[in-house]
Amino acid sequence: MEILPVALVFFLATIVSTTQGYEPVLTHHIHLLKPKTGGARGSVPGLSCLSWRLAVETNNIINWKKVPAECEGYVGHYMLGHQYRKDSKVVTNEAWLHAKSLNLTKDGKNVWVFDIDETTLSNLPYYAVNGFGTELYNATSFNEWVLKGIAPALPESLKLYKKLLTLGVKVVFLTGRGEDQRNVTSTNLKNVGYHTWEKLILKGSAYTGKTSYVYKSAERTKLVKRGFRIIGNAGDQWSDILGTNVGNRTFKLPDPIYYIS
Ligand SMILES: *[C@@H]1O[C@H](CO)[C@@H](O)[C@H](O)[C@H]1NC(C)=O
Ligand SMILES: *[C@@H]1O[C@H](CO)[C@@H](O)[C@H](O)[C@H]1NC(C)=O
Ligand SMILES: *[C@@H]1O[C@H](CO)[C@@H](O)[C@H](O)[C@H]1NC(C)=O
Ligand SMILES: *[C@@H]1O[C@H](CO)[C@@H](O)[C@H](O)[C@H]1NC(C)=O
Ligand SMILES: [Mg+2]
Repeated sequence: MEILPVALVFFLATIVSTTQGYEPVLTHHIHLLKPKTGGARGSVPGLSCLSWRLAVETNNIINWKKVPAECEGYVGHYMLGHQYRKDSKVVTNEAWLHAKSLNLTKDGKNVWVFDIDETTLSNLPYYAVNGFGTELYNATSFNEWVLKGIAPALPESLKLYKKLLTLGVKVVFLTGRGEDQRNVTSTNLKNVGYHTWEKLILKGSAYTGKTSYVYKSAERTKLVKRGFRIIGNAGDQWSDILGTNVGNRTFKLPDPIYYIS
């Protein structure tokens, strides 16, 4: 019999507390991980999953298609345990210190760019039942999940979002989700606490076949041409924070599950 790891209970409690009404979906969909060390410290012969994750987060390993099969348990423990939350908190805390330190002119032109998937909304309930990134991306099943509109908020990002609003900073969501998912995305964002924004930019047909790096750079440039100042920019992919007009500072949230160029 498998024992429910403490970390998973903690994760579920956190997620359930931020997504009232969705408990049945989440509790039934997240499978029980085999407890190892409970702290994302499991080792795999011949491969250090921690070294792999570090190389991925620092953009040294690029263009990868899936998490090494041997690291499924490791990544699962990392995501569902305390470490993912703690790593995210360090990032959003630095982001807040940066925003707070700026002498912002009160002309309504200061914006913060947030990516959506794995930055403001979490698809962990989907990835937890689809191998934590060890399976090739399946657009059909992923879009089915997105269309449910029940992705929970990343708690630390939501806190940062709320604090930025108190500074009078406007929020721009810039996402690789397509225009056809505008309604579900907007409803999902509002349901989990992101009540307001200046713009919700989705990937239009003009960018079909273009990388996220190209699309996001072009959209940020449009913002700047319209007179907005991007004071900060947060995303889970390097393609969210590299390119042109990236903003005064960029913040990389953890994501060891997938890579988008
Ligand atoms: C903040 O900005 C305003 C207007 O741009 C300027 O007048 C003021 O001196 C600045 N204050 C500090 C502490 O830099
Ligand atoms: C992708 O997901 C769809 C919908 O769940 C499923 O029918 C299909 O078999 C999956 N494709 C692969 C290659 O696993
Ligand atoms: C948008 O989504 C909401 C909630 O799911 C739904 O009630 C509404 O009919 C949708 N609107 C459009 C235009 O699809
Ligand atoms: C923010 O970035 C803009 C554009 O690069 C630059 O002009 C401005 O001085 C920067 N502001 C701060 C506070 O670093
Ligand atoms: Mg993302």
